[in-house]
Amino acid sequence: MASDFALEMLSAAALLLVFCIGVGLLVAAILFALDITQTRSAVRRNYPLIGRFRYLFEHLGTFFRQYFYAADREEMPFNREQRSWIYRAAKNLDNTASFGSTQDIHKPGTVLFANSAFPVLERDALPTTPLVIGPDTDNPYAPESIFNVSAMSFGAISKVAVEALSRGARLANCWLNTGEGGLSSYHLAGGCDIVFQIGTAKYGVRDASGQLSDARLRELADMPQVRMFELKLSQGAKAGKGGILPANKVTSEIAATRGILPGVASISPNRHEEIGSPGELLDLIGHIRAVSGKPVGIKAVFGEFGWFGSLLEEVKRRGAASAPDFITVDGGEGGSGAAPVSLMDFVGLPLGDSLPVVVDLLIATGLRDRIRVIASGKLVNPGDVAWALCAGADFIVSARGFMFALGCIQAMRCAENTCPTGITTHNPRLQKGLDPADKSVRVQHYVENLLHEVAQIAHSCGAREPRELSRAHALIIAEDGVPVPLEHFYARLAPVTGPQRLDAAQ
Ligand SMILES: Cc1cc2nc3c(=O)[nH]c(=O)nc-3n(C[C@H](O)[C@H](O)[C@H](O)COP(=O)(O)O)c2cc1C
Repeated sequence: MASDFALEMLSAAALLLVFCIGVGLLVAAILFALDITQTRSAVRRNYPLIGRFRYLFEHLGTFFRQYFYAADREEMPFNREQRSWIYRAAKNLDNTASFGSTQDIHKPGTVLFANSAFPVLERDALPTTPLVIGPDTDNPYAPESIFNVSAMSFGAISKVAVEALSRGARLANCWLNTGEGGLSSYHLAGGCDIVFQIGTAKYGVRDASGQLSDARLRELADMPQVRMFELKLSQGAKAGKGGILPANKVTSEIAATRGILPGVASISPNRHEEIGSPGELLDLIGHIRAVSGKPVGIKAVFGEFGWFGSLLEEVKRRGAASAPDFITVDGGEGGSGAAPVSLMDFVGLPLGDSLPVVVDLLIATGLRDRIRVIASGKLVNPGDVAWALCAGADFIVSARGFMFALGCIQAMRCAENTCPTGITTHNPRLQKGLDPADKSVRVQHYVENLLHEVAQIAHSCGAREPRELSRAHALIIAEDGVPVPLEHFYARLAPVTGPQRLDAAQ
């Protein structure tokens, strides 16, 4: 009996196997026929069936490289070493290492800090000196944190990500920039300070015809959480291009927050219609400040500096009160939810080439203390932040650093609505992986541990607090391998940006 049953099972299994092989062969024959008759892919036409593996391996290659083959300091935009530091800081794990640095400290461009023979004792260390933004406004703002959350719109990132950032920013006492997608309940959920960004489409602050709405501006300014307004001229990843939110990411909630139609791609203009010159820029800044009573600044990536020189000269003509209260300098290496590769790769100066020049122009025109400088662009680890402070920044913001703190694995799929960590997708199934309660604490730890290590660098250099860091405290490895103090290294940029350039721009 038992052997009959075994025999029956065996023949059933054999039949199933034959059936599967038959189906497999049939599918292979169909795919073969499809490949050989189609004209779109040369590889599939010339190598039917086998040619299909090329696409599979090309797709899988990204993942294999990240996990198995790329060296710790090799990947772009962020290597494993940079990401691991953030993951560990966000989880509040020990971030010490053994045996020695894996950083190539002889590579040109590497920044090294000049330690003092007599570092600052812990008991002599000072808390960070607060800086006021917009002292002449009705509501000046003195942010508590040097390190803050950069612009990322609701739409580019998910509601759970926005909520986690809002709650985390509150815990860490830092600000959260809304990005150009308007203000939602998720931004307000944590009770953190908010910088409202006004993009070229004026999302979240526009009237029915798409123009800036003073009534809505007043409503926003009446919210105590909204501390400043940032007029976005451009961002590093796509200078000269407006925001891009693909149609599949424009849910009805996002559309309502922006004041647009759901399911239709949200493409903002590549410039503010009403701003075609430095004078017009100052006019709009003045208008927003008068209506809101709150500090107003600008965000830009630099390609050249003539326009900024003209702006500062115009400020001097009109009076210091007309100045933007801050400028966010975004590096050409900046990130984005979606941007054309040609703009990402080739347009706009990296932060290392623009931040020192902007600071020097402010000093040269006597406006350094009037206009606060916020630095942005791959400043995600303590050394990056300490460098920006040395170069002259007052505050630092990061977008992708905070994405890593939320669990981003650099899958580079932000525009596809398929983010595996729930950060840039509106798919509820994928959003389940991101618990705002848990991730907000990671945001807090990231900020706190980063600032702790920045202070450590400062103390090592003999500075009592991070804002005492100056260009004298850092060196940069020049092309010939010689470490050059930042103050001398950046002096090379001066001829392009000094008085000659200012004159030329007028
Ligand atoms: C997902 C995502 C969305 C972004 N959305 C905006 C935006 O709405 N407005 C803006 O000015 N910049 C936006 N940015 C750019 C960042 O604010 C920041 O300038 C840039 O990523 C450089 O900082 P990082 O290197 O720390 O990421 C976005 C960046 C990312 C990654």
